[in-house]
Amino acid sequence: MTRRALVTGGNKGIGLAACRGLAKLGCQVFLGSRDEIRGREALEALRSEGLEVELLILDVQDEASIDSAYEAIKAKTGGLDILVNNAAVYIDEGERALDVDIAKIRETLESNFYGPLMLCRTFLPGMIERGHGRVVNLSSGMGQLSGMGAGSAAYRLSKTALNATTRILAAEVEHPDVKVNAMCPGWVRTDMGGASAHRSPEEGADTILWLATLPEDGPSGGLFRDREPIPW
Ligand SMILES: NC(=O)c1ccc[n+]([C@@H]2O[C@H](COP(=O)([O-])OP(=O)(O)OC[C@H]3O[C@@H](n4cnc5c(N)ncnc54)[C@H](OP(=O)(O)O)[C@@H]3O)[C@@H](O)[C@H]2O)c1
Repeated sequence: MTRRALVTGGNKGIGLAACRGLAKLGCQVFLGSRDEIRGREALEALRSEGLEVELLILDVQDEASIDSAYEAIKAKTGGLDILVNNAAVYIDEGERALDVDIAKIRETLESNFYGPLMLCRTFLPGMIERGHGRVVNLSSGMGQLSGMGAGSAAYRLSKTALNATTRILAAEVEHPDVKVNAMCPGWVRTDMGGASAHRSPEEGADTILWLATLPEDGPSGGLFRDREPIPW
């Protein structure tokens, strides 16, 4: 059975690598992009590699945009099996909680926390109803409470909140074949990670592909890196 997958922020970086990887695994992929031109360029890049994916204009900060994405996917395929909450911003690098402009914290939470939460609230009920679903939330080591430190306060807060959301939703789902997990891709060479990062986008996306295609007896409510559990 062909699995239907949505990747938010799929137009570049780790999201684009996840779209590529899921398409190669035989999934029907909806590449989410808030910008149509950037989305089309990503689509063309994948098409030139022989991979067919569909573009979905989706701004994760915008509830109406999420509703339209839901309606479009429902009309085309009946529903979603895999949701990859990848889209995020990192606009307060190194800035301290004591100083950072509160507007930056709000802006970061909109994309990195409220967005994924709204997407889960939109797509999880259908997954539960159909009895199958995989949600993959892109977190970061910077959101781990066990290693929490100073700086980049907005980004850290957003990822810690996303981690908590992952555990809450996994506990609420109560269906053995509907799984909600979070993962850290490591330090990845993207616009966000910068050119000095150790990993390629494909390496960063590997654990996404694993969590997106977990078997029914796979884990739920966990935080992973390199396909292994890591502390919260
Ligand atoms: N790179 C790393 O080292 C690293 C490490 C740990 C965790 N992560 C996480 O991995 C994920 C992907 O990161 P990346 O490195 O691939 O970042 P990236 O290259 O900066 O790409 C981020 C993507 O998110 C999209 N986006 C941001 N806000 C959006 C919104 N409101 N609606 C829709 N799309 C939005 C961007 O769209 P535009 O192109 O339109 O801006 C872009 O497609 C993020 O969740 C990030 O926090 C990355």
